[in-house]
Amino acid sequence: MGEVRESERRWAAAFENVPREHGFEPLRVQGTLPPALRGTLYRNGPGLITLLGQRYAHWFDGDGAVSAVRFADGAASGAVRVLETAGLAEERAREKPYFGAYGTKAPGLWNPVRSFRVARGTSKNPANTSVLAWAGRLLALCEIGRPFEVDPADLASLGETDLDGVVEGAFSAHPHFVAQTGYAFNIGTRIGHPRAIDLFALRPDGTAGRLGRVPLALDTMIHDFAATERHLVIFVAPLSLRLLPMMFGLRAFDQSLEWLAGRGTEVIVVPLDAPGSPRRFFVDPFWTWHVGNAFEVGDGTIALDVVRYRDFPSSNEWLSRIVSGSVDADTDGYLARAIVDPKRESVAFTPLRPRTGEFPRVAPRADGRRHGVLYWTEHSSREVGRYGPPDTVARVEPDTGELDAFTFADGHKPSEAVFAPRPGGDGERDGWLITQVYDPGAHATYWAVLDAAHVSDGPIATAHLDHHVPLSFHGAWWPAP
Ligand SMILES: [Fe+2]
Repeated sequence: MGEVRESERRWAAAFENVPREHGFEPLRVQGTLPPALRGTLYRNGPGLITLLGQRYAHWFDGDGAVSAVRFADGAASGAVRVLETAGLAEERAREKPYFGAYGTKAPGLWNPVRSFRVARGTSKNPANTSVLAWAGRLLALCEIGRPFEVDPADLASLGETDLDGVVEGAFSAHPHFVAQTGYAFNIGTRIGHPRAIDLFALRPDGTAGRLGRVPLALDTMIHDFAATERHLVIFVAPLSLRLLPMMFGLRAFDQSLEWLAGRGTEVIVVPLDAPGSPRRFFVDPFWTWHVGNAFEVGDGTIALDVVRYRDFPSSNEWLSRIVSGSVDADTDGYLARAIVDPKRESVAFTPLRPRTGEFPRVAPRADGRRHGVLYWTEHSSREVGRYGPPDTVARVEPDTGELDAFTFADGHKPSEAVFAPRPGGDGERDGWLITQVYDPGAHATYWAVLDAAHVSDGPIATAHLDHHVPLSFHGAWWPAP
């Protein structure tokens, strides 16, 4: 085993269960926290990697744990709790694993009750992917189920919600706010009956509504989408879910997704003023997990900044190996601008970075102008990408080509970088980037605060837990009132 490979595997110990759950408690701080940084960053990811003697097979499988760091008056406190979902409670009552997970097949063979629940979309919801801070509520999201309400004060589990009857089935982990209107939009991919995408609007007054439903030809998986002030744009990759092998306990969900390259990726452009009349067309196949930025170009086209992959199977395989601690495979996801032209029925990609990476984010803008700034995490070299998650957080400015990046040393692994604006500040660089970092030397997790305008200077302060949290996916900044 080579030197790089050995040192690059030190993050693997992050994939052990959260050792201790607690509400907000003081954190050890190194450096000086800016007094103007006031608010809470909530994050979600797998909290239990092993449940009732069974180790999960994929990063996406673990039972969700929300972690949080709160900054006030130059001090920091931190909290983490595993979400007490109905599925987790049921498995604990049975004293053994019962449901399958995304990448872990259900134990045993044919089980008619469990299979019926898979087909009805009422199987276990691990609520483990992201959090939505909306209208004073904190919702933990996973795309296969309904939102799961969490108490923002102490992270107590409050249970699933259908948002007053609006969410019948699934609700994706990637709602998008549109600054011009204050609305957020989301999608929910339904399998079986109906086979469709539900479209949701979240109004600024805290009420939710269903915009419509887009029928699908396939049972499939859609992780993210784009929203502008005029359109929703959804990429439906040629991914066909074979339900039967999963229901018979022969395969996990992800291994039941078949890549049909010949079909191409379908582009669905939904006009917000006529959601019942989407434009739909096919282009050459590609896969994306995440959309960072989306805006109307002004000439009838729509720009989306995405992480583009050649296909789903290779990306999913790379992600599945993360939890085993041994990747040894190249990832090919790169940051690209996609110009979607509904009239010409085309999508043209331009690379924005020569590195691989993930978790593109934009800073919210109150003025509604399009974002000129993206934040994401990337691999500082191909070698790093071959042996594990990204080690670098970066600010990327596509219009100017400007890059401002910081690479963590000593095998430290940052997560998605979330922007916290300076109160009363000006623009999308005026604030801080907060990233949750796993330190393999201490086998513990800390939050690093960077000046978003000077990322390459590195952290200005760090706030340390006395234990680790498994590498998490997505978070949301909740400013203090
Ligand atoms: Fe995601």
